[in-house]
Amino acid sequence: MAEEGARAGTGSLSGQVALVTGASTGIGRHLVEALAARGMAVAGLARGEERLRTAMDEVAAATGARTLAVPADVTVRGSVEAAVEGVVAELGQIDLLINNAGLIDAREVPLWEADPDQWWDVVSSHLRGGFLLSRAVIPWMVLRNRGRVVNIASGSGVRARPEYSAYSVAKTGLMRMTEALATALEGSEVRAFDVSPGVVDTPMTRSMAMWEGFEDWTPPERVVELVVAIAEGELDAWSGRFLRAGADDLEAVRGIVPGDSARQLRLRPYGDDDPVA
Ligand SMILES: NC(=O)c1ccc[n+]([C@@H]2O[C@H](COP(=O)([O-])OP(=O)(O)OC[C@H]3O[C@@H](n4cnc5c(N)ncnc54)[C@H](OP(=O)(O)O)[C@@H]3O)[C@@H](O)[C@H]2O)c1
Repeated sequence: MAEEGARAGTGSLSGQVALVTGASTGIGRHLVEALAARGMAVAGLARGEERLRTAMDEVAAATGARTLAVPADVTVRGSVEAAVEGVVAELGQIDLLINNAGLIDAREVPLWEADPDQWWDVVSSHLRGGFLLSRAVIPWMVLRNRGRVVNIASGSGVRARPEYSAYSVAKTGLMRMTEALATALEGSEVRAFDVSPGVVDTPMTRSMAMWEGFEDWTPPERVVELVVAIAEGELDAWSGRFLRAGADDLEAVRGIVPGDSARQLRLRPYGDDDPVA
């Protein structure tokens, strides 16, 4: 859906390039539209070519921005590398990478009842996908000493969900990847962030039995405003850390410089005398 009256903007993001994975529907589709409306040239990546092309064409028509559909599977190295090369050739160097593509456990069952291939596909879609995209894009960001990576995280990354074990494992791993990236990038102008979207009404959440009858959806605008603030460099102090749409007030987090291990995965000590605390 087009943002109200949105045409490609003239703000600080104008002329920059974004690559959004999982762009054909759900949160990815909202992000593509919002970034295009702010004047970014936006490449969208997903496996299903027709739905992706339609989405990217619709966004171009609604916003006047340049968009590009790059059909690819985030878990296939050659496919990811070709997609990134295509984006750079068509739109230029990437300023913003959003690792958003991913799957959810097909059935709400404990992990010993899960289908082994589907379980691994879920983990792979988030982890191998985020890794391959980061590996293909970040070296160029480092060379230019500019760029931001947003990994779309989840509350399931900070607490195990027994019926979504693959998803929990994947999102925890993705958060650790963000922290490892941000730490490795310290001293440069390249940053990496985790953004958890809350509970947004999408094909994924509609497929999940646990959200049946749920109505208190997080407005996609809450996800968009956090990602836009990151893209504009307003939340650089949060690099390597977790932000949560719908819970974090943008005005408040803008003014916070998180220290120590705030909003990072940590082992909780059992008490003051815990020898591994
Ligand atoms: N919705 C929520 O409330 C919520 C909450 C927490 C976290 N998240 C996270 O937010 C992200 C987006 O969620 P969503 O609800 O918008 O999901 P969605 O509606 O299921 O959309 C997923 C997107 O990812 C693409 N995709 C899936 N596997 C892929 C692969 N291997 N390679 C390339 N593209 C792939 C899909 O297109 P194709 O199938 O055509 O490839 C689609 O465009 C996910 O990482 C999800 O875990 C969502």
